[in-house]
Amino acid sequence: MTHRTLKVALLGAGSVGAQTARQLIERRAELAQRIGADFELIGIAVRNLHGHRDVELPQQLFTTDADRLIDEADIVIELIGGIEPARTYIERALSDGKDVITANKALLAAHQVDIFEAGRRGGAETWYEAAAAAAIPIIRPLQDSLVGDRINRVLGIVNGSTNYILDRIDTAGITLEEALDEASRLGYLEADPSADVEGHDAAAKATILAGLAFHTHVPRSAVHTEGITQLTTEQLVAAKRDGYVVKLLAIAERLPAKPGERDAVNVRVYPAMVPTDHPLAAVHGGKNAIFVEALDAGDLMFYGAGAGGVETSSTVLSDFVLAAKRIVRGAPAEFVSFDANLRIADISEVESSWHITLHVADEPGVLEQISAVFAGNEISVRALHQEQLADSAADASLVVVTHRATEGRLQRTVEQLAEASAVRAVIGVMRVEGD
Ligand code: HSE
Repeated sequence: MTHRTLKVALLGAGSVGAQTARQLIERRAELAQRIGADFELIGIAVRNLHGHRDVELPQQLFTTDADRLIDEADIVIELIGGIEPARTYIERALSDGKDVITANKALLAAHQVDIFEAGRRGGAETWYEAAAAAAIPIIRPLQDSLVGDRINRVLGIVNGSTNYILDRIDTAGITLEEALDEASRLGYLEADPSADVEGHDAAAKATILAGLAFHTHVPRSAVHTEGITQLTTEQLVAAKRDGYVVKLLAIAERLPAKPGERDAVNVRVYPAMVPTDHPLAAVHGGKNAIFVEALDAGDLMFYGAGAGGVETSSTVLSDFVLAAKRIVRGAPAEFVSFDANLRIADISEVESSWHITLHVADEPGVLEQISAVFAGNEISVRALHQEQLADSAADASLVVVTHRATEGRLQRTVEQLAEASAVRAVIGVMRVEGD
């Protein structure tokens, strides 16, 4: 690594900020290797030094002087949230030619044109994969992977707390009031829950996604926004009875041109009924999902965690690595790198469980002989199922499902079973995954 050490300023020490700081410190060597240059977290700007702060982080990093940190930094990570002072800090960093990483959906939805313009002036990039649906990669797929396609519709569940509330009403049969209370007790709602329950958080994310999907700036004020507070128990009961689930949807849609006009786009957020067999109906709890309908690629679905300090920091760190690589190379980030150079493991080292079908003699001692083979290879049996066979040289079909064990041991077990006197034939062997 010949590049000088990059200086990183972090603004904000909430749940995402503190987790990001921890990772930048603990995983420094690994991330530096991926970037191709070392970096240093030079400080964490907070509003008040005596406010609640993460005690595990080095206390000397904390400062109230965000301006000084931005001046000294090469890269700025903004995790304060809200419009001001985040906007002033970000625009200043970008104008100074410093790449900015942000998860600030409200700010981007309101001022993305000015922010991107500040970046153009300074020759700096804004990285905001975490600003919509946190841990789910959706910004770069829309921006890069699908840039040659034509997107017709983006349909998303992009607010975790309202999805949790609606899911609890649907699956536990509780009322909206009870579900709101429960979400608040579990910390799913912000101190001021209106951004979530009135749909503003989802609308901000929809604004950002629409800009990428349709290459059109959609002002936040043009996004029709309804939240979930007006829903009635009768509506929710009727939806369930008629084969639907109610989800708070963010929709950005291309409307085909009328003669002599251009195509149009509409962006909206409202609670809507979704048929129970639609993939979005299966998005439970606080999870998010975004369904993209593209002309050539067809339907694509992105699913995962749309909130949470740890989950969001994953995305922030990825943006950080890409921004840092861009600076080190002086060019767009190179996405593929083989620098970790991990050892390649043979399949015999891999663990899985197996579903083994045997044809066996149906006589005393057979199970004992078969289980001795498994025990001899230190494999634990999870389930056994025996059925009589009508027209066969064997007497019974025996299915054995194992607990997880290495491939090597399972292969040996199957070879020994094939040799066992009680086994007429090994009929089928298949791995069980995802259990
Ligand atoms: N309150 C938001 C949610 C957090 O529930 O999805 C991320 O914006």
